[in-house]
Amino acid sequence: MDQKLKDKTVLITGASSGIGWATAVAFAKRKCRLALAARRVEKLQELSQKVLPPDTQTLEIPCDVTNAEQVKWAVQKTINTWERIDILINNAGISDYRPFMDQDLSTIEKILNTNLMGTLYMIHAVLPMMKKQGSGHIVNVASVAGHLGVPNMAVYCASKFGMVGLTQALRMELYKTGITLTALCPGTVATPMAEKALRNPKLAKRLRPKSADQVAELIVKSCVTKPPEIIYGEIPGTILKLTKFFPRLTDWLTYTAVKIYRPFGKSN
Ligand SMILES: NC(=O)c1ccc[n+]([C@@H]2O[C@H](COP(=O)([O-])OP(=O)(O)OC[C@H]3O[C@@H](n4cnc5c(N)ncnc54)[C@H](OP(=O)(O)O)[C@@H]3O)[C@@H](O)[C@H]2O)c1
Repeated sequence: MDQKLKDKTVLITGASSGIGWATAVAFAKRKCRLALAARRVEKLQELSQKVLPPDTQTLEIPCDVTNAEQVKWAVQKTINTWERIDILINNAGISDYRPFMDQDLSTIEKILNTNLMGTLYMIHAVLPMMKKQGSGHIVNVASVAGHLGVPNMAVYCASKFGMVGLTQALRMELYKTGITLTALCPGTVATPMAEKALRNPKLAKRLRPKSADQVAELIVKSCVTKPPEIIYGEIPGTILKLTKFFPRLTDWLTYTAVKIYRPFGKSN
């Protein structure tokens, strides 16, 4: 399996932390060439100079995915260097745990622009090259919140539902082009994004977080097996099955669980 990924050119957004960082490490083990994108370029340099094997070919690209011009430039820089992009991992994302009406419009726009528009800009910039190559794989790191509404995460959910819909639609649109897409929908992952929630030991026990390394391995494997979607984590799988057949029951369960384990307050 690893042999199939050798020398592939992989562009990863949000590579400066958490899942993106771990994904870079996992692809480096398979001897891929890595274009690492994020706003904190010093973190990308740390990853590439101190963590990845010294023979890994890397590009560290400062890029804010909410800026379409920066996204285009990141893609062009990768193509100018390696003349192709085999794999795109749309991983950059932010979240905000807060009742909907407590979020001002600029926060709402920031979440949608990063998670959803950032993903759209990247795909828009990468597809011409993938079409020219006649091949390519795009992994959109969505979330179980792309299938299940979670109180106090309405905008995050909207962005992740959007990513799941985008992935599905494009997969069909690009059918038989050699290009395909995977939506990855993990439950909680122990990264800086989930840090506050996981500080609460009772909640942490309930959420049963996966590690960034586990998710990274899944991402790498998905680039060989190319499944349409991955739901990852014991709890998400069960809840999503319940949602399908008993939506009101899941509403009640989710509402009650949030009320008990993560009511909105100072500690969020
Ligand atoms: N942790 C979880 O429980 C969980 C569960 C399901 C799905 N996810 C998804 O997994 C993805 C990765 O999250 P994580 O858990 O690894 O969180 P994280 O450790 O906070 O990492 C988020 C990454 O996104 C980058 N980013 C944020 N805004 C950006 C922007 N405007 N432009 C470019 N990069 C930006 C950050 O880099 P810079 O700050 O350097 O730009 C950072 O590298 C997200 O899409 C998240 O929604 C996470």
